Amino acid sequence: MSRASPAGRRLTFEIFRFNPQAEQPQPHMQRFEIEETPYMSLFIALNTIRETMDPSLQFDFACRSAICGSCGMMVNGKPSLGCRTLTADLPDLIRLQPLPVFKLIGDLSVDTGVWFREMAASSEAWIHAKQAFNPNAAEERMDDELAATLYESDRCIECGCCVAACGAARFAKDFKGPAGLNRIARFMMDPRDERDDSDWFDVFATEDGVFGCLGLMACHDICPKELPLLEVYAYLRRKALTTARKRD
Ligand code: SF4
Ligand code: FES
Repeated sequence: MSRASPAGRRLTFEIFRFNPQAEQPQPHMQRFEIEETPYMSLFIALNTIRETMDPSLQFDFACRSAICGSCGMMVNGKPSLGCRTLTADLPDLIRLQPLPVFKLIGDLSVDTGVWFREMAASSEAWIHAKQAFNPNAAEERMDDELAATLYESDRCIECGCCVAACGAARFAKDFKGPAGLNRIARFMMDPRDERDDSDWFDVFATEDGVFGCLGLMACHDICPKELPLLEVYAYLRRKALTTARKRD
């Protein structure tokens, strides 16, 4: 559980700096020192640094409440959401770096949107409806348990922390990653989608899909929304096996 900050701590931040717009961009770490305040989050700390020491510091935040997914960063080597990480839970020296895998915009700011868009496009991870939408038709019913499973998958905020923590995503550019496979599983389970397991097979039962996973499962440990990614991988592996048998 998060604690109130001990009074009077002086925090040292080592922050990755890189401005691709500069004439001679030089990636480097830069030190800043600030006084810790009660319940200080990384969002507050970074704003304090930007407002009082360096207005050029780049980082992303929008909702400040673990909903928009824009504030993922490496915090002492671990992918985390900056808005919900309290300095009280960290040591005096805090090292911040941008998430790997994603396109670097500058300093701590990365473009997760390109990665998520390409992943969704490559797997067509959206509803392919069985019938055209009829606004006058009665609502279709769905099994309660299945609906709860779909909503659980839909809680993903696309922060990219699981992708940054994934060994396979770091070296396999086309690997769909934990968030991508979660999204694929979500649409595979949706009875409103016209594609069957055989149609999905070539999307997920591949080296870029579930068989690209090294099984380290850092994604499951790191996800700030605590999505059941272990269960997603188990679901997809079982589906790969049963679909392959049917195809033989
Ligand atoms: Fe973030 Fe979790 Fe979604 Fe991965 S699965 S993008 S860690 S919310
Ligand atoms: Fe929105 Fe952190 S600012 S998730």
